[in-house]
Amino acid sequence: MEFFEVINKRRSVRNYTSKPVPKEVISKALEAATLAPNSSNTQTWDFYWVKTAEKKKALIKACLSQRAARTAQELIVIVADPTLWKRSNEALLQYTDEIKAPPSMKIYYKKLIPFIYSAGILNVLAPLKWMIANIGGLFRPMPRGPNTSKDIQTVCIKSAALAAENFALAISAQGFATCMMEGFDECRVLKILKTSWSARIVMVISVGEEAPDGTMGPRFRLPTNLVVHEI
Ligand SMILES: Cc1cc2nc3c(=O)[nH]c(=O)nc-3n(C[C@H](O)[C@H](O)[C@H](O)COP(=O)(O)O)c2cc1C
Repeated sequence: MEFFEVINKRRSVRNYTSKPVPKEVISKALEAATLAPNSSNTQTWDFYWVKTAEKKKALIKACLSQRAARTAQELIVIVADPTLWKRSNEALLQYTDEIKAPPSMKIYYKKLIPFIYSAGILNVLAPLKWMIANIGGLFRPMPRGPNTSKDIQTVCIKSAALAAENFALAISAQGFATCMMEGFDECRVLKILKTSWSARIVMVISVGEEAPDGTMGPRFRLPTNLVVHEI
């Protein structure tokens, strides 16, 4: 399918048929999700493909039993976890060796990434980070964060959201449909997944074949000239 056809075809589907989604379709889309751009390539995400009947039932309930979850053939949960920078850091350092990266890239992963991803207990480091950023920023352009643990979460959530879109488009390209959902009880979803409490549930994505009444109507968007600003 042509790229713009995929973009146009992807709709949020709230009612699916009972046609099963082949495992390869999901695997391929998950692979595409992991190829999304992400902050500093730290890949602070996890993808849960919820397969067991018991967990699926609990997840549907945690998604407020909405129809997009209830009628889905498959459910994927996209998680962002700021502590996961540690998982990739060693491998990234090794990678910098393999590609004979300039020393600045090594320093970036060795020194800067641990600093960026630390806020300290109860954000104790945040005021110091804020001061460095904002005093330095008086004299030259400086990233003004992330400072607090919430700021760090936001960094990770941005990357995971891009992975969610890659996933949804990859499913559309293979002739099936999705619905992104943030209508869920995050505490309950964390419990079902048994993830660390540092994790944030970014999106639950339902997958299936679109039923004839799958969407709520034709796509509605504000006119492009209202939201695109050429300055
Ligand atoms: C972050 C996010 C959360 C969403 N949560 C829900 C949800 O909980 N339930 C639902 O039915 N649709 C949900 N949607 C789908 C949106 O309602 C949908 O994308 C929007 O209405 C535009 O329609 P379209 O995707 O068909 O273009 C969500 C979409 C996003 C991006």
